Amino acid sequence: MPLQCLFASDAVTRTSIAQGAQINQIIRQSKATKSLEIGFAYGFSTVWILDALRPRLNSFHIAIDPFELTQWGGVGLHQIKRLNAEPVFEWIAEQSIHALSRLIKSGKRFDFIFIDGNHRFDDILVDFYLSDQTGFARRAYGF
Ligand SMILES: C[S@@+](CC[C@H](N)C(=O)[O-])C[C@H]1O[C@@H](n2cnc3c(N)ncnc32)[C@H](O)[C@@H]1O
Repeated sequence: MPLQCLFASDAVTRTSIAQGAQINQIIRQSKATKSLEIGFAYGFSTVWILDALRPRLNSFHIAIDPFELTQWGGVGLHQIKRLNAEPVFEWIAEQSIHALSRLIKSGKRFDFIFIDGNHRFDDILVDFYLSDQTGFARRAYGF
């Protein structure tokens, strides 16, 4: 299926333009350089995040999603390639509970975290709890 068809037919999954613009603005108004998102899919949110981080030295962005290839056809990864953003981007193909636990253990820290993975209440709560431990004292969150 062509990429445009995937985008157009799935307005539910993707981050909307209004939401993306808001994420972009929050990051621009902060001093964030290190960001993380849970839920990669089409990479709409990723593109807005990378755009805000682009002018900043030593910035990087990590997206967690175990289903990027199996359910979303690698569309998000295609966006990363199109933007030549590979050097500042990492995709973790694991469930957030495992990836976040590993990131906590490894001492990784993030300034901005966008939680848009599994939208069940208990999953969001766990994502928030674990995300909160990757952290700086003052940080911006998106849901
Ligand atoms: C609403 S979509 C994300 C949309 C994306 N932010 C965008 O703008 O295109 C939710 C995503 O969460 C992923 N997901 C579901 N369960 C997950 C889990 N346990 N850990 C990480 N990602 C998960 C799904 O594969 C899906 O891609």
